[in-house]
Amino acid sequence: MRQIQEAERIKNLPRYLFAEIDRKKKELISKGVDIISLGIGDPDHPTPLFILKRIQKALYNPNNHRYPEYEGASFLRKAVAAFYKRRFGHNINPDTEVLITIGSKEAIFHLPYAFLNNEDYAIIPDPGYPVYGISTKMIGANIHKAPLLKENNFLIDIDNIPPKILKEAKIIFINYPNNPTGATADEGFFKKLVKIAKQYGILIAADYAYSDITFDGYKTPSMFDFDKNRDVSLEFHSLSKPFNMTGFRIGFVVSNEFVIDVLKRLKTNMDSGAFTAIQEGAEEALLKGDKATRRMVEIYQKRRDIVVDTLQKCNISFFYPKGTFYVWAEVPNGFSSISFVQDLMEKTGVIVTPGNGFGEYGEGFFRISTTINDKRLKEAMQRIKNFLS
Ligand code: MLT
Repeated sequence: MRQIQEAERIKNLPRYLFAEIDRKKKELISKGVDIISLGIGDPDHPTPLFILKRIQKALYNPNNHRYPEYEGASFLRKAVAAFYKRRFGHNINPDTEVLITIGSKEAIFHLPYAFLNNEDYAIIPDPGYPVYGISTKMIGANIHKAPLLKENNFLIDIDNIPPKILKEAKIIFINYPNNPTGATADEGFFKKLVKIAKQYGILIAADYAYSDITFDGYKTPSMFDFDKNRDVSLEFHSLSKPFNMTGFRIGFVVSNEFVIDVLKRLKTNMDSGAFTAIQEGAEEALLKGDKATRRMVEIYQKRRDIVVDTLQKCNISFFYPKGTFYVWAEVPNGFSSISFVQDLMEKTGVIVTPGNGFGEYGEGFFRISTTINDKRLKEAMQRIKNFLS
């Protein structure tokens, strides 16, 4: 019998970081360990009731049981435009400049398919969301890792990207507020990036998953504040984090007409869009959800403070985040990212994410996600404190 073989492109594909952590977590739970997971960034609060009610009603509408509109329901694209006007002050054409996606992971994964040839480069932040690099490698294009270093406040050092790479790059992924470091970017960064992107013809793929999870008065600007005609930028949005909707898989992309049309061509050949009932819930969220997001942000800000307070007491260096629900901290002396995470998990049952899971420049760090209720978070931090002392 001839053995079934996987394709070459799959051979080197690593297992997804959070799927692996989940596997380990289940294994420990089955052994009776009291696990507290500060691993994946998956909001613990339920989706707000007003969104659920709309989805519930939409579920029974037989029109919604049929194929959705390919580029996303026109009512949701209009809601995206209204959200953009209210939130960022930008006028977006809902017919040509918006594409509804099955969460932003799907959209991020497919972007390199639409814009990279084999010889091209994508510049990806390292540490960064694993999907940027995995997708680029899967289609056989090249990645250039842009290190996010502590000494540069975890911003991409644009001046340090070699001109040879800039000439061959077609996409640069950015993500501020940043997963995993919690860093935010300033105007100077965005302006410089747009200038370079225009000079070299590079598409700025801005992952805005955490744009509204910000603290201490910080407000994330739109890329389009700096790239007025949306010549070189695209924003990926997700309803997962601001509206506790990770399970629903719903997001959207905003860019210029050309970029959206290219993505649309790829996407309509590949999937049939998001369930319309969920798109109705997303419309509700985008039109009426500001208060719900603000409530969650207050909760995450308090949790951030619980975490940084313990880390300070334990003399652990960390980056003080103005956004996301993550805290990025340095492993104590004598540990690698993996040995720290494993030791912590085995001795305390607390799961955190090893920094090197986000790329080689994440080595020496670990990430705490605060998507767990305050009581368990405090318990986890106490266990970490005991472990370190
Ligand atoms: C994370 O925890 O970094 C991500 O949100 C997980 C994911 O999107 O797969």
